[in-house]
Amino acid sequence: MIANKNLLLMPGDGIGPEVMTQAKRVLNWLQETKRASFNIEEELVGGASIDAHGVPLTDAALAKAKAADAVLFGSVGGPKWDKVPFNIRPEAGLLKLRSELQVFANLRPAKVFDALAAASSLKPDLVRGLDIMIVRECIGGIYFGEPRGIETLPNGEQKGVNTEVYTTHEIQRVGRVAFELARKRQNRVCSVEKANVMEAGLLWRQVMTKLKAEEFPDVELSHMYADNCAMQLAKNPKQFDVIVTGNLFGDILSDLAAMLTGSLGLLPSATLGAKDASGRIPGFYEPIHGSAPDIAGKGVANPLAEVLSLAMLLRYSFDMQEDADAIEAAVERVLAKAGRTPDIKAEGRPTISTSEMGDALIAELRAI
Ligand code: NAI
Ligand code: MG
Repeated sequence: MIANKNLLLMPGDGIGPEVMTQAKRVLNWLQETKRASFNIEEELVGGASIDAHGVPLTDAALAKAKAADAVLFGSVGGPKWDKVPFNIRPEAGLLKLRSELQVFANLRPAKVFDALAAASSLKPDLVRGLDIMIVRECIGGIYFGEPRGIETLPNGEQKGVNTEVYTTHEIQRVGRVAFELARKRQNRVCSVEKANVMEAGLLWRQVMTKLKAEEFPDVELSHMYADNCAMQLAKNPKQFDVIVTGNLFGDILSDLAAMLTGSLGLLPSATLGAKDASGRIPGFYEPIHGSAPDIAGKGVANPLAEVLSLAMLLRYSFDMQEDADAIEAAVERVLAKAGRTPDIKAEGRPTISTSEMGDALIAELRAI
C-alpha cells in the first residue's frame, strides 16, 4: 500500500469543484479499500482565490503545492473575472503554478474508449483502439521567449513580437520524458517541429537525434513537420504512439488529437518535471477542459476527465499502475453500460447528472 503521500487538491472555479467532488469519492474508495493512504489538503485557486484573497494564487497555496507529492487541479476562470487586470486574472494562477513547480512536460493522452468510437468526429474505424500520447513542452518556446511585446514604430504603426526560443537543455529534458514513456508503450517517438523554416526547430531535430543515439538507441525515432502532423492526425491517427513537440505546436496538435476521442469531458492531462535529488518528480494533473461557465452550477458536467486525471496521478506520481488501470477500466465499463452526461453523444442512452456518473463509477469500482 502507498502510504503518507501528500496530495493537494485545487478545485478552482465553475465546474472545477463539481468534478473534483467526484474525484474525491474515488480517493475515498482508494483509502477505504486500503489501496492507499493520503494526506489530503485543499486550496483555493483562480477566481475563487481572487474573491477570497485578491490574488489568483496565494504564497501559502503555492508553498503547499510545492511541498505536495502531487497536485490535482480542477479548472479556473469565468466571466465574473474577465475584467480583472491581465497579470492577476484566474489563468495567471495556473501559469504561475506550472512555472513555479518547474513542470515542463505536458502529457496529453488521446485514447478512444470502445463504447465511444462512434462518437468521434472521424469514422469509427479510423479511431477504434486509438491510443496516442502527445508530450508538449509547456514552459518554453514562443509563449515565453524574449523579446516580446507590442511596440509603436516611428511611423505610428504598431508591431507585435513573440520569439520562439529553445535551448539544448530544454529540448533534452522533454525529449527524455517522451522516450521514457515510449519504452512503456509501443517504443515509438515522433518528434514534431518546423525544421524547414525555423532555427529553433532545426536545433530541436538535431538534439532529439543525438539524444536517441546516445541514450535511447532501443526506441524508434521519426521526425515530422508540424503541418504534416496535423494532416496525419486527421487522416490516420493510429500511426502514432508518442508525439513530442514544443509549446505552440503541442497546444494545437493536442487539441486536434483531443477531438478525435469524442468529448472534452473525458480528457485528462499530466504535467511533469525533472527528478529532484530525492528522486521525486513534480506532478500536476488536470482535465484539459476549462471551467465551463455555460453549465457550471447545473450539475451536468462530466466528471470523468477529472477522475482520469487522478488515474494519471496515481500512475505517474505514485507508480500505482494497478489502481490506475482499475479506474480506467471502470470508466470504460461505465461508458459501455451507464447513461451519459450531455457532452457525450447520447446514442440512445439516458442522460445522467455529474453525481449519477460518479455513482455509476463508484459502483463499478466497488464491484472489483
Ligand atoms: P471550456 O472547456 O470551459 O468549455 C468549452 C465547452 O465544453 C463548453 O460548452 C462547456 O460546457 C463544455 N465542457 C467543458 N468541460 C466539460 C465537462 N467536463 N462536461 C461537459 N461539458 C464540458 O472552455 P471555454 O468555454 O473556452 O472557457 C471557459 C472558461 O474556462 C474561460 O474562463 C477560460 O479561460 C477557462 N479555461 C480554463 C482552463 C483551465 O483551467 N485549465 C482551460 C481552458 C479554459
Ligand atoms: Mg489549448
